[in-house]
Amino acid sequence: MAASGVEDERVRGEEEDDDDVPQLSAAAMEALQEFLAEQKRPEEQDGGGVELVAEDWRLSQFWYDERTARALSEEVVRLVSPSGSGSAAGAVACIACPTLYAYLKKADPGVPAQLLEYDERFGQYGGDFTFYDYNRPEELPPSMKHAYRVVVADPPYLSQECLEKVAETVSFLAQPEGSFLLLLTGEVQKDRALELLNVRPCGFKPQHSNKLGNEFRLFTNYDPADRLGGWEQSDVTPSPI
Ligand SMILES: C[S@@+](CC[C@H](N)C(=O)[O-])C[C@H]1O[C@@H](n2cnc3c(N)ncnc32)[C@H](O)[C@@H]1O
Repeated sequence: MAASGVEDERVRGEEEDDDDVPQLSAAAMEALQEFLAEQKRPEEQDGGGVELVAEDWRLSQFWYDERTARALSEEVVRLVSPSGSGSAAGAVACIACPTLYAYLKKADPGVPAQLLEYDERFGQYGGDFTFYDYNRPEELPPSMKHAYRVVVADPPYLSQECLEKVAETVSFLAQPEGSFLLLLTGEVQKDRALELLNVRPCGFKPQHSNKLGNEFRLFTNYDPADRLGGWEQSDVTPSPI
């Protein structure tokens, strides 16, 4: 690649003779930095979607369809940019939901977002990627502790054990004064999700590019009201009069 070629050339030049060190002009340096940043960005497709790596079903990978990924990323941008200010007031942690990360960066490249993923192919996102295995829920860089205003999680498995461990990771990442939490998982996890993370189902039904057999839901710890279908009314306990 051109960029690493420049770096290799620079290293060789330093070893041989300082007078011959190739110098990049400010404009060339800016172009190089732009090129390197571009390498880290998810690629856009012609239709406006985002190109992702192929699903690996052995890793329980099922990507959202475009409508779902767009709706979720718009909601997350709203949560971190209050009153449409356009400037992010908090960071976003995407636990095992690479499609959301990709669409989020497309919707607003300035949103600080971290993708926690087991699949090292997402190392293509550079410093925005953190290796994550749900079996080691808190084996994460200390700088990530309580650092996220919005946490979105899509656990790889529908088991109680997996949700319990992901819930530990959510507590590690979320701010103690309160974070917005969005959990995407099967309807069968509804009671456990409420118990472990205090999240309730929304009207919005996430869909996948390849249809799943089980019913899939979005759960949140806040009522999005007129967005994402709001909390399902049957799940909201009426307050005493
Ligand atoms: C159900 S998929 C969710 C993907 C989401 N629907 C999307 O489109 O972004 C679960 C994710 O968990 C990841 N995963 C698989 N094994 C994992 C593990 N041991 N720890 C953490 N994540 C894992 C997969 O790579 C996959 O991206």
